[in-house]
Amino acid sequence: MPTAVALLVAAGRGERLGSQGPKAFVRCAGRPMLEWSVEALRAVAALERIVVALPPGVTAPPGTHGVPGGEQRSHSVRAALHAAGPADLVLVHDAARPLLTPQLVEACLEAIAAEDCDAAIAAAPVADTIKEGAGEVVVRTLDRSRLWAVQTPQVFHRAVLERVLAQDDAVLAAATDDASLVEAQGGTVRLVPAPRANLKVTTPEDLQLAEALLGLRTREPR
Ligand code: CTP
Ligand code: MG
Repeated sequence: MPTAVALLVAAGRGERLGSQGPKAFVRCAGRPMLEWSVEALRAVAALERIVVALPPGVTAPPGTHGVPGGEQRSHSVRAALHAAGPADLVLVHDAARPLLTPQLVEACLEAIAAEDCDAAIAAAPVADTIKEGAGEVVVRTLDRSRLWAVQTPQVFHRAVLERVLAQDDAVLAAATDDASLVEAQGGTVRLVPAPRANLKVTTPEDLQLAEALLGLRTREPR
């Protein structure tokens, strides 16, 4: 059985949310946002350790190992990877996705263990029709049946993630997720179907939606 470690990236400023402090520490349905992810990760027995990339001036949640984050997201992933210990598999998750479930974590870990691939990433089939634009003029309509909205968690064989993160800072800064770095080197990335509800909190509207969904989840059955 391969060993696995989780990297939770929480070092972003949350500029688009416009909150006072860093986004991962904004209260969301009664607790700092990152604690929802920590709870889901801690429920997965296969994860030996949780490393959290942190913004300045905060402490890591209990049961996790904190490291200072970096300037860009990929730099935070790299900083956390350095503190990961000797695991075979590395799972990366954004603290900005508080609706993570242990089931989705397990599905990603099972996919990479079972399949011949370099990475396995959570993604939801796209529900909207997506068009490519040049400014505000439509260039073409993409084939929706082939499109996936990519999320985290993303799980990697450790050596693969180490190799792609060893690239220049400018290459890392341009990547919006870690899997794209693997794709760019010709690696095989497998899609793991995930619920659209595993949303990323970017704007104040997203925060309201996440709080509503988490509220539904925690309500006692009548
Ligand atoms: N992140 C990080 N280190 C950075 C930038 C981002 O650890 N230097 C983390 C964020 O904390 C978040 C995830 O990466 O959990 C996804 O990033 P994003 O949603 O862009 O969050 P922020 O960078 O905080 O938000 P914004 O871009 O609006 O400032
Ligand atoms: Mg950001």
